[in-house]
Amino acid sequence: MNVIKPLIFENDKLLILDQRKLPFEEVYIEVKSSEHMAKLIKDMALRGAPLIAISACYSILIDVLNNKEREELLKSIEILKHSRPTAINLFNALSEVEKIILNSKNLKEELYNFVIKLDQEEKERCLRISENGLKIFKKESVVLTYCNTGFLATTGIGTALGVIYKAFEKGLIKEVIIPETRPYLQGSRLTLYELEKLKIPYKLITDNSIAFLMSKGYIDLVIVGADRVLSDGTLINKIGTLNIAILSKYFNIPFYTAFPISTYDNNSKIEDVIIEERGKEEVIKINNNLITLENAKVLNYAFDITPANLITGYITDEGVNYGGRKEVI
Ligand code: MRU
Repeated sequence: MNVIKPLIFENDKLLILDQRKLPFEEVYIEVKSSEHMAKLIKDMALRGAPLIAISACYSILIDVLNNKEREELLKSIEILKHSRPTAINLFNALSEVEKIILNSKNLKEELYNFVIKLDQEEKERCLRISENGLKIFKKESVVLTYCNTGFLATTGIGTALGVIYKAFEKGLIKEVIIPETRPYLQGSRLTLYELEKLKIPYKLITDNSIAFLMSKGYIDLVIVGADRVLSDGTLINKIGTLNIAILSKYFNIPFYTAFPISTYDNNSKIEDVIIEERGKEEVIKINNNLITLENAKVLNYAFDITPANLITGYITDEGVNYGGRKEVI
C-alpha cells in the first residue's frame, strides 16, 4: 500500500506534512518546538485525533533534545493541551508525558522510548482496527465515510479509512462516497487525496447530498472516525456526524464508528467535554477568498455529539462492539 506520511521523525528532526496545502502541494514543515507545534495544531496544519496526540508528544521530545528545563516542559504541555480541546487522545498522551517529566531519572531516554512506542502502538492499533472492521461487510459495498480518518489522521493506515483500505484489498469495496466536510474540507481535500493515491474508486459529494443518495439506496454502509467516545457509547466526532447518524437510522443503513481504544474517555460525562468552536474565517472564506460578507456573524462548531442509540457498532483494535464496552466480538 502506498504510504502517505503526515509526520517524519528522522535524525532527531521532526517534519510535519502541511495538510492546509493538500491536495495540491506536498510541503513539509520542520517543527522547532512544542510552542511551534501547538500553533500548527491550532491552525490545522495537521489534524486528526491520533495524529495530533503523537505529534504533540514528538514536539516535547524536540524540546528535550534542545535541553529545555523540566519546568518549561510542563508549561509547554499546558500550551499543547489548549491547542484543540475536544479529541481525548491529545490529553491522554500528554498526561503520560507529564508523568515522565515529573518522575524520570533519564528524561531524554525515557521520553524517547515512550514516544517511539506510542507511535508504533498506534500504527499497530490501526492495523487491528482495519482487520476487525472486515467483520461488518456482508458483500461488496458502497461505503460513505466522513472527514478524514486515514494516513493523514494517524501515523498508520487510519481508522475508518483503514477499514475501507483493508476491505478494498479483499474486494469488498465497490465505491467510497466522500462528503466534502465543510468548512475545512477534510473530505474533498484530504480523503480524496488519499483515495486518488491508492486508486480506490470514489465519488465526492456535497454534504447536503447525503439524504438524497441514501433515499435512492446508493449507500450500503457508513463508517466514520471518532474524536472521543464516552463509556456510555456517546460519540464525539466531526460536525455533521450526527446528521449522518440520524439519516442512517431513518434509511436503515448500518452506521459504524472506528477508533483506537486510546479514543475512549471513561472518565468524562458529556457536560465535561468541550466542543471546539473555531473562528469565522473558515466559514466565510474558501482558499482565502471571501464567499460572503466579511462582517457575517458565524457559528462554527468543529464537532458534534451522536448518542449511542444511533450507532450500530464500534470498531476498535479490541474487536467490534455492538453495545457496552465489554461485549467485544
Ligand atoms: O477537525 P479534525 O480534522 O481534526 O477532525 C477529525 C475527525 O473528526 C476525525 O474523525 C477523528 O479525529 C478521527 S481521525 C482518525
